[in-house]
Amino acid sequence: MQRLTPTLRHDGVGIELIALIRTILAATKEISFRVSQAELAGILGSTLDENIQGETQKKLDVVTNQLLKDMLLECEFVRAIASEEEPNSIAATPNAPFVVAFDPLDGSSNIDINGAIGTIFTIYQARGDVSDSDPKQFLQGGRKQVCAGYVLYGASTKLVMTTGGPTRGYTLDRTHGGYLLTTAEFAVPSSTQMFAINMANQRFWQAGFKAYVDDLLAGETGKRGKRFNMRWNAAMVADVHRTLEQGGLFAYPSDNRDKEKRAKLRLLYEANPMAMLIEHAGGKAYTEQTAILDIEPTDLHQRVAVILGSQDEVETCLSYLADNQ
Ligand code: F6P
Repeated sequence: MQRLTPTLRHDGVGIELIALIRTILAATKEISFRVSQAELAGILGSTLDENIQGETQKKLDVVTNQLLKDMLLECEFVRAIASEEEPNSIAATPNAPFVVAFDPLDGSSNIDINGAIGTIFTIYQARGDVSDSDPKQFLQGGRKQVCAGYVLYGASTKLVMTTGGPTRGYTLDRTHGGYLLTTAEFAVPSSTQMFAINMANQRFWQAGFKAYVDDLLAGETGKRGKRFNMRWNAAMVADVHRTLEQGGLFAYPSDNRDKEKRAKLRLLYEANPMAMLIEHAGGKAYTEQTAILDIEPTDLHQRVAVILGSQDEVETCLSYLADNQ
């Protein structure tokens, strides 16, 4: 099985970007080890703090954020970093070529139950026209990502990444300590009978989305004429991973639960990297109106509706939204 660096070289990735990716992955190997140690490493449970999003911080959120932050601020190829757990972006090495944003620990509600969790990351070229600490370093459209990926800490530790070519999958081989190529190229099946949606939010959805889900639930007796199954991990990394492996539709639509917070998932370090991975595997990733990768970002911690996965199913869902404007 091929190792990571030769695969990246084969894909034409430059030496500086490879070094940066390896720095991120060094942090994920440490996170993977600590996650596997759980109580033994004292990383379960909550802190007494809230993060910038007003969510309770878990100890593992704090530990993983610190680990990635320390390693990336030391990396000579990183101009600035942004994290879900940090209110502002942080300048790193002046004149370095790249900026990195990350969600250090996605799926926090799964930490204490030994469920699937992950780290999501995205890399852009640094901008020369704004200062290193300016958040505008990160307000670049998703199509400008030079690398997007996640590491899923599940039964095994999996890296899924694209550097502009195919979306590839790697598995952490604990015997030699490196990631080995185990899926050369993901290809999301274009049709599906699987959906991943938090159904508890049903009463807060807009009419078009309700109508779409009603028809999924009606199965073979309804308009869709086929039976659908539902899976929900409550960790985007795990639900997107299943979608890449088997197809499906993953959605976290906008809702009217909270007028200040119409959508849940964050554009910079959740929606954009996942959208790039899905598109480069032949799937589709939309908000309710546009391709996620075409959004012009306005805010570091901006939230967007997400509908992604098997192409035909995403299109069907969007057509319900358009018909119910
Ligand atoms: O904040 C991100 C996240 O944990 C995603 O990983 C996941 O898809 C979603 O939130 C879970 O949301 P809920 O708590 O509504 O199930």
